[in-house]
Amino acid sequence: MTPIEKSVKSQIAIVTGAARGIGEAIARRLAADGLQVVGFDQAWESRPAHLISALAVDVSDFGAVDQAIGDVEALHGPIGIVVNNAGITRDAMSHKMDPQDFRRVIDVNLVGPFNLCRATLTGMRDRGYGRIVNISSMNALRGQYGQANYAAAKAGLIAMTKSIALETAAKGITANCIAPGFIETDMTRAMRPDIREAEIAKIPSGRIGTVEDVANAVSYLASDAASFMTGQVMSVNGGQHMP
Ligand SMILES: NC(=O)c1ccc[n+]([C@@H]2O[C@H](COP(=O)([O-])OP(=O)(O)OC[C@H]3O[C@@H](n4cnc5c(N)ncnc54)[C@H](O)[C@@H]3O)[C@@H](O)[C@H]2O)c1
Repeated sequence: MTPIEKSVKSQIAIVTGAARGIGEAIARRLAADGLQVVGFDQAWESRPAHLISALAVDVSDFGAVDQAIGDVEALHGPIGIVVNNAGITRDAMSHKMDPQDFRRVIDVNLVGPFNLCRATLTGMRDRGYGRIVNISSMNALRGQYGQANYAAAKAGLIAMTKSIALETAAKGITANCIAPGFIETDMTRAMRPDIREAEIAKIPSGRIGTVEDVANAVSYLASDAASFMTGQVMSVNGGQHMP
């Protein structure tokens, strides 16, 4: 298979949680890179111009994911790239956390990415090409007050990614994680202002991260240039944590 055939086969990219925040920036960047990008999110007001399709899919529901992947491939062709970005927080100290909030965060942030991989890996293996990019978190690598559920899900995502990387390395597929630090989105804008400012003060780069900082890293990992990089965790955190 020539490189040209490979890139033709990698034209369709799925980005989950693409309606806003980091996911929206990733989808916009991959579209600017020349990919045909399909967004999955819980709901859409309209289809953004940079997406070829915007589907309402709850990533934690395997049936819905599998059906949507089948629909995308029937309509647009084989999926070469999957970016698992959809994620939620349900923060509380562990001794006060509602067990349902623990489970929901695992279901969206860990089972969701598994569902996308499960639904796309067979096709990628058959075609001998694929890029999986999973959005983990700095807090997976260091823990965080009030985030036992979130940190566990995001750390599980790293271990899952390494396992998938091993299983697929000989099939032309790479699977990597990005661990963003503190990034300006609705998720961090919702924090108590004093906690938010204290977090920003801890960043050696002296600023909060932008959604484009994360999208730039995804662009690289999704490209043919990153074909020898698999099973890795790329930190994008302004030097806040150096594992
Ligand atoms: N913002 C940060 O500082 C930061 C830091 C580290 C990691 N992250 C991770 O980056 C990713 C994006 O974060 P963000 O800050 O842009 O968040 P956000 O809340 O602004 O956006 C998340 C998107 O995911 C969608 N989503 C949520 N649950 C879903 C589900 N079940 N099915 C489909 N879509 C769903 C939401 O509707 C939303 O559009 C998340 O995985 C988050 O954990 C964010």
